[in-house]
Amino acid sequence: MGLVATMGALHEGHLSLIHEAKTRTDITVCSIFVNPTQFNDPKDLEKYPRPIEQDIALLQSANCDVLFLPTVQEMYPDGDEQWHFDLGRLDRIWEGAQRPGHYQGVTQVVKKLFDMVQPDVAFFGQKDFQQCMVVQYMVDQLQLPVQINVVDTVREETGLAQSSRNVRLSHTGRQRALVLSTALFMIKGGFESGLSTRVLKDKALELLQQAEGIELEYLAICYQNTLEEVYTTEKINAPLVAILAAWVDGVRLIDNVVLNR
Ligand code: PAJ
Repeated sequence: MGLVATMGALHEGHLSLIHEAKTRTDITVCSIFVNPTQFNDPKDLEKYPRPIEQDIALLQSANCDVLFLPTVQEMYPDGDEQWHFDLGRLDRIWEGAQRPGHYQGVTQVVKKLFDMVQPDVAFFGQKDFQQCMVVQYMVDQLQLPVQINVVDTVREETGLAQSSRNVRLSHTGRQRALVLSTALFMIKGGFESGLSTRVLKDKALELLQQAEGIELEYLAICYQNTLEEVYTTEKINAPLVAILAAWVDGVRLIDNVVLNR
């Protein structure tokens, strides 16, 4: 059994996870649950899109076998529940630092979903690189009998990473957001031609700082296995990933590109 956990407002990114689950497992379960405990910003929770009829139609056309659509009451029957899972530095850097409590909510709900659905394999998108690490870390620490399968990021033709939050972007916002993937792919291209992480970060920062309507939260080139930043003129042979978070048009977007494997 394969599980694709989502918060709905399904798009091509989610559908590629469903497709992967259908290919690799016999029964594909998709969960849709806008998990209140992982929203550090109440306005974000309130504004989160919930087009359930459209989602159901998409799941039907993708031949998803089961939709699990629990209510908040079903997921949290006791109301506010105590939950703390020690994620070490993963909870203190990048998304962990910018969104306090976010990964606590994510681990809380993912653990519940695993317990309820009991999948053999769970599929997560590389789009949320740090989330994949957090989930894998929890699975390892608790020795959960679930295999985590990470699926590549699906992008629009323009390069913009598909996201449920993209529907909140205006036409201009959508145009402006393109610089985010452009910067990441510039880093990847430069890395392949031998430029150092230091030069690459500086170039990308310059591009992003000059771009109109972009408020950058962070941009870093990191080791894939720890997410510790690498900013040096030395040649690095370990697997790296470039990550960023930025506000465009009042919408917070994240993206990343793997530089090497
Ligand atoms: P959500 O943002 O709905 O994403 C559900 C899954 O789809 C995640 O694994 C995410 O990484 C993946 N995904 C999103 N955009 C993608 C894209 N462009 N390409 C490939 N995969 C993409 O992530 C969550 O929900 C929640 O935190 C959840 C894990 C469901 C826990 O509540």
